[in-house]
Amino acid sequence: MASIAVTTVRPARRVRGAIGLAGDKSISHRYALLAGLAIGRTTIHQYSRGADCAATLDCLANAGVEITKTHSPERGLTVDIAGRGLRGLRRPAAPLDAQNSGTTMRLMSGVLAAHPFMSVIQGDASLTQRPMGRVIVPLEQMGARIEARDNKPPLTIHGSALKGITYRTEVPSAQVKSAVLLAGLQAAGTTIVHETAATRNHTELALQAFGAALTVRGGAIELAGGQTLTGRELVVPGDISSAAFWLAAAAAIPDSDVEIHNVGLNPTRTALLNVLRRAGATVDEHVEREAGGEPSGRVRVRYGQPRSLTLGADDIPYLIDEIPALAAWAAHGGELHVTGAGELRVKESDRISALVRGFQALGADVEEFADGFHLRGARRLSGGHADAAGDHRLAMAFAIAAIGAEAPSVITGADSVAISYPEFFATLEALCE
Ligand code: S3P
Repeated sequence: MASIAVTTVRPARRVRGAIGLAGDKSISHRYALLAGLAIGRTTIHQYSRGADCAATLDCLANAGVEITKTHSPERGLTVDIAGRGLRGLRRPAAPLDAQNSGTTMRLMSGVLAAHPFMSVIQGDASLTQRPMGRVIVPLEQMGARIEARDNKPPLTIHGSALKGITYRTEVPSAQVKSAVLLAGLQAAGTTIVHETAATRNHTELALQAFGAALTVRGGAIELAGGQTLTGRELVVPGDISSAAFWLAAAAAIPDSDVEIHNVGLNPTRTALLNVLRRAGATVDEHVEREAGGEPSGRVRVRYGQPRSLTLGADDIPYLIDEIPALAAWAAHGGELHVTGAGELRVKESDRISALVRGFQALGADVEEFADGFHLRGARRLSGGHADAAGDHRLAMAFAIAAIGAEAPSVITGADSVAISYPEFFATLEALCE
C-alpha cells in the first residue's frame, strides 16, 4: 500500500487497559470465499474491518456474488453473502483487484482456477512484486492454465474442470495450502496437501464449519472434491495478530497490564503467547468459547523483566506475522535474534530490510542478515523518523517501539494500518498512560 501519511507517536510511561478487537483477517477471508461457494445464505458477524478483507468481498462481488454489509455496535461489521454454489461464480467483466492482499490473490486464484472462464486478478505495487509461482504450480497441475510474467501479478487464470492432486508445499504457507484446498474442493477426485511445516488451519476448520468432510493426519490434509457447502451464520473471533502489538507492548514496558477480550486462540496462531512467556512476561489465556471450530477467549499480559529471545526456522511458520511485534518488544530493553525467516522478504514489504531500516531510524541497535536480524534493546531509543514502507505491520511495530523512546517519533505510511487494523492509532491513544 503506497502511502505518505505521517503520524507522530509520543513517548508513554506504560500501557494499561482492556479492549476488544475486530475480526481476524485470515478467518474473515476464508468465511467470505467459502460463503460464495456455498448453497444458501451465510451471515458473518465481526468481519474484519481491514482493507484486505474488503478486497476479498469486492473480488467476490465482481464475480457475481451478492453481498450486503451492515454495521452495528454489538456485532461490528456483518456481511451477508448469497452463495452461488461450487463453480458458480460469473466471469468478471473487468480485472479483479486484490489490492495489497496476498491472501486474497492466492486464495481467490484457487477459487477461480476451477471456473470455466478466463479471469484476471491484479494487485497494488507491493502485491505486484510478490511471488505467485507457489500457487501457479499446483493449480496448473490440477488442470488450470495461469499466465504471469516472472510468476508475479497480474495473473490471467484460464480455469477449467480440475482434477485432484497430491501436493507437497515447498514453503510453509497457509495461503498455498488454502489455494490448493479451495481448488480441490471444486475438483474431481481427492486432493491431498502435505505440509512441510504446519501452518494456520483456518481453511480446514472453515471447510468443516460449512459442512465439508476432510481428514488431517500426520501433516497431510485430504479432501474429496465436489462436496456441497451449506451457508450458515458465523462469528469471526478477534484478530490475535492485531492483539500481538498490545501484548508485546504490555510485556515490554514496566508496570504495563493489557487484557484483550474475544480474541481468537486457535493453537496454530498462539505461539506468540508462549514466546512472550519465554521472554519473561506474565501471560494468562482463557478459552471461553468455540464457534466454527475456532476457540476464542481472553488474554492478559503483564510486564516481566525481558530476557533474550532466539527464534529460528522451526519457530517462524507459527509466528510469521508476529515478528514485527516481537522486534518492538525487543526495542524496549529485550534482545531478539531471528534467523530462518527469509519468507519475511516477500511479505507486504521486504519485512527484514524495511524493519531494520525503520528500527535504526528510531535509534535501535539492529543488524540485518539474509534470513533475519538481531536487535539489542539495551539502550533506550532516541526516537526518529521511520518509514513503514507501506506495510501495516511495520507501521504498528514502529509505533509500539516509539512509545519507549526519549522523544516523539514520526512514522511515514502510518495509514497502512487500515490494511488489517484501522482502529490501531485510536487504541494506542486509549491504552497509553
Ligand atoms: C495468511 C498466511 C500467511 C500470513 C498472512 C496470512 C493466511 O502467509 O503471513 O498474513 O491468511 O493464510 P503465507 O501463507 O504466505 O505464509
